[in-house]
Amino acid sequence: MDFLELAKKRCSIRAYMDRKVEPEKLEQILEAARVAPTAKNLQPVKLLVVQSEEGLEKVGKAANIYGAPLAVVVCADHDRAWTRPFDGKRSTDIDAAILTDHMMLEATSLGLGSVWICFFKPDVLREEFALPENLEPVNILAVGYSAGEHAKSDRHRVRVPLDQLAAYEKL
Ligand SMILES: Cc1cc2nc3c(=O)[nH]c(=O)nc-3n(C[C@H](O)[C@H](O)[C@H](O)COP(=O)(O)O)c2cc1C
Repeated sequence: MDFLELAKKRCSIRAYMDRKVEPEKLEQILEAARVAPTAKNLQPVKLLVVQSEEGLEKVGKAANIYGAPLAVVVCADHDRAWTRPFDGKRSTDIDAAILTDHMMLEATSLGLGSVWICFFKPDVLREEFALPENLEPVNILAVGYSAGEHAKSDRHRVRVPLDQLAAYEKL
């Protein structure tokens, strides 16, 4: 499958089978995150991988993860992120997002479903997992085997046309 096919195949999955993600597949997903680019290659991201019943229960207190058997909490490390000198903008969210996207696409290529979650209570995650002060949970990626066609949302098909998205030379 070429890249565009893979990107078009990926969609958010919001219902999962009661089936674990195989350790080899999890490892490949994490490897996809590891090789992602980050600003100045500072790699200011930590991944909290949660699969145990107890751990998923904790994540569930902060977010709806739609019954996924695996959640990766993507945390930005504020001690290591790059800062743009001109305006002080930090790369934390951008770096965390790139790793998340790499994992999401790798999950798709492995036949797994996933959904990117930002609607969560950061303070609850922080407390439940005793996150150190420098780590900020930015995204949660829920991963698992899709429960089928009904697990997909119509939103996947709704995108602005290319001529509204991109303009040549002038916006
Ligand atoms: C930054 C970001 C945050 C998102 N947060 C949530 C979320 O909290 N809960 C959820 O169900 N989906 C969430 N999504 C998934 C989007 O709703 C979804 O990607 C979008 O509707 C397009 O549908 P598709 O992923 O099926 O193509 C998020 C996606 C992104 C990129």
